[in-house]
Amino acid sequence: MVRPVLKWAGGKRQLLDELYARFPAEFDRYHEPFLGGGAVFFDRELEEATINDTNPRLVNFYRQVRDRPEALVDQLRTFRDPEVDPDPALPYADRTERGDEVDAYYYQQRARFNRRAYDDDWAGTDEQLLTEAALLLYLNRTCYNGLYRENADGGFNVPIGRYSDPDWVQAERVRDASQVLESANIRNEDFTSVLGAASPGDLVYCDPPYVPMSATADFAEYSAAGFDRSDQKRLLAVARELDERGVWVVCSNSGVTYDRYVAAGFHVDREGATRAINSDAGARGEVDEIIATNVDPDERANTGQASLTEF
Ligand SMILES: C[S@@+](CC[C@H](N)C(=O)[O-])C[C@H]1O[C@@H](n2cnc3c(N)ncnc32)[C@H](O)[C@@H]1O
Repeated sequence: MVRPVLKWAGGKRQLLDELYARFPAEFDRYHEPFLGGGAVFFDRELEEATINDTNPRLVNFYRQVRDRPEALVDQLRTFRDPEVDPDPALPYADRTERGDEVDAYYYQQRARFNRRAYDDDWAGTDEQLLTEAALLLYLNRTCYNGLYRENADGGFNVPIGRYSDPDWVQAERVRDASQVLESANIRNEDFTSVLGAASPGDLVYCDPPYVPMSATADFAEYSAAGFDRSDQKRLLAVARELDERGVWVVCSNSGVTYDRYVAAGFHVDREGATRAINSDAGARGEVDEIIATNVDPDERANTGQASLTEF
């Protein structure tokens, strides 16, 4: 039971029991095409899993955690408090590549993190990739609400957060996660690639960016690309194809997708969960979500919780 290294919008830690109650009693390999913070993958410590996300910086982060955990931790230890003045010895001490003024160490690190998006000399060298991964964890622990959001150019644009004692080194979590990732196949593709990876008897867990319930809850903004209604349709088509091939499928999704999954023949349940996924504190609260699956109730892993409620 390993904890995720990153805070991630839509993280599924509060939904784990409900998800596991719908997992099949037995399955072969595990696939998670929308990894994000990977709450399920890390919690279950599943061997030889295929994990995927379209966010290239997130995927690089997990590869660095897997391959170079000690170098990553060493680099994390070199960072300073986000609110101190920019370090003049580092790039972007005064102005970012785009000409924006940098008035705190945090914004200097944010500008360094955005080299992939803005710098012509970004070459993706081993050193640049390690630094980018360290910066991702540093920003994740010091930015506002632990959000990950990009502007239309692909620049990470979340402002500084207010923490009395932010801890961005997270050495233990990085080392634990590194072990879980050891046998994982880590991909940076569209979720449809799961069709090529999954075989009959495997389990696919899908947790896409949710269709926004309202204009103030637009959490499809994980990356510049977003995830819209046509992506939701593609996902349903993939879920159906996996089902036809004898692959186990469990999907969490926004409540607005309920009817479509029912019409496609899945077992669908509504869940309510309180999540801090909205930067507007007043709009936080219940998120209407569903879990859809092709695992019949008598084929599911029986959790202690489920058998207790039968009495
Ligand atoms: C709801 S989050 C997953 C949260 C995760 N279950 C957790 O516990 O943290 C959805 C993820 O899907 C990724 N994503 C968006 N569009 C995608 C696509 N077309 N294919 C694969 N991943 C995508 C986003 O980058 C984001 O990390």
